[in-house]
Amino acid sequence: MKENSENIKVQKKLNRIGVLTSGGDAPGMNAAIRSVVRSAIYNNIQPVGIYRGYYGLVNRQFVTMQSHSVSKIISQGGTILKSSRLPEFDKREYRDIAIENLREASIDALVVIGGDGSFRGAHLLATENDFPIVGLPGTIDNDIFGTDFTIGFDTAINTAVEAIDKIRDTADSHNLVFFVEVMGRNTGFIGLYTAIATGAEATIIPEVHTDIDSLCDYLLKERRKNKTSGIVIVAEGSDQGSATEIAAKVKAKIPDYETRVTTLGHIQRGGSPTCNDRVLASTLGNASINALISGISDVMIGQVNGLVAYTPFAEACAKHNPINQKWIEVAHILSL
Ligand code: F6P
Repeated sequence: MKENSENIKVQKKLNRIGVLTSGGDAPGMNAAIRSVVRSAIYNNIQPVGIYRGYYGLVNRQFVTMQSHSVSKIISQGGTILKSSRLPEFDKREYRDIAIENLREASIDALVVIGGDGSFRGAHLLATENDFPIVGLPGTIDNDIFGTDFTIGFDTAINTAVEAIDKIRDTADSHNLVFFVEVMGRNTGFIGLYTAIATGAEATIIPEVHTDIDSLCDYLLKERRKNKTSGIVIVAEGSDQGSATEIAAKVKAKIPDYETRVTTLGHIQRGGSPTCNDRVLASTLGNASINALISGISDVMIGQVNGLVAYTPFAEACAKHNPINQKWIEVAHILSL
């Protein structure tokens, strides 16, 4: 973001800053909350926790926080502030209630930890009311423009890799082909990373069209090479449907194939955050308070090439990080 950008305003002294987590929980959200709370206190600002995301903002579920409120949470998954999705926040009347509640509670600025849906709401709230808001990218999907990694992604892929390694043992022991579904909503970051890391035989992600005939040819070729088992990673959102649907389509074409389906599901969202997620959450949480103190608003704070980077909410919501095409090739080459 350029220095003379309209996202920088002359800022009055901040006395109270609200913090909330919104959308799907992600490991590292607690580390981010801890960082926001302690960085605010360090700067003589009173942090206020808002429970259950925008729902709590609209329903005034506020709690003042102290340094000890966030003791020992850096290693915990989930979010101590709880989270929710509130589709009604698209409506102006809900945002008007939210801003009224913020003003009534003398909250001068807000940190929103969540995904692009949460940032859309934050952008509207900030611009309609000239209210200082910054966002931190918290989602396992890694689908947010303006940051190399989102808070939670590293933990999610490590959890998935651990699970798939275990599935591999059973696949090998029983000569099975497993179709393993991983999360990611409409993006294949979790799929591609876990496929490379587990040496999957095939990878199906939304960014690439999947042809079932070619997939079957490929799997048969694998069998001719005396590979008796296999792992096919299926990311959510693929154009051929879920892992269950794809496994059924393959089974219809190769009836003697012994297939199994495992959907990893929400285990990818939970658990103690990795070191990378804790450090990312801690540095970005601190940067969020520094940004608000400097008068920066209506931006998401991410990390690009190791440096803190501000991306206007509107841009973070409109754009997407592309999947690295080279990595798709690497996944394919290494599965030969
Ligand atoms: O955005 C995080 C995520 O876990 C996606 O990967 C997944 O598509 C979605 O949330 C699942 O949402 P829910 O928990 O509401 O079913």
